[in-house]
Amino acid sequence: MPEHRGHRLGLALKVATHAALREQAPGLRALATWNSHVNPWMIAINEQLGYRVAFRELGLQGRPDLG
Ligand SMILES: CC(C)(COP(=O)(O)OP(=O)(O)OC[C@H]1O[C@@H](n2cnc3c(N)ncnc32)[C@H](O)[C@@H]1OP(=O)(O)O)[C@@H](O)C(=O)NCCC(=O)NCCS
Repeated sequence: MPEHRGHRLGLALKVATHAALREQAPGLRALATWNSHVNPWMIAINEQLGYRVAFRELGLQGRPDLG
């Protein structure tokens, strides 16, 4: 929804979910998150929160001939 961009809503939502996790899972020590490599906005948010690249995944999509 382009008209709602630019208000850091993505970061706010993620900060809120992290705060909820801290309450609900106080023993949590690490989190993994995923995003597309062609989504620089979400990558920037994750980097601001301290996430670092741990691995890269290649997903393949196709139309197998099911006969
Ligand atoms: C992730 C998302 C919510 C971040 O948007 P946001 O919270 O508005 O981001 P910011 O406020 O930090 O915006 C920073 C700048 O990037 C721009 N921007 C953010 N997302 C954008 C997008 N998908 N396409 C183009 N520009 C975008 C904003 O307009 C803003 O521009 P400005 O500096 O000229 O004002 C938004 O990109 C989005 O809804 N994406 C689609 C869903 C998605 O990617 N979900 C995550 C899947 S892992």
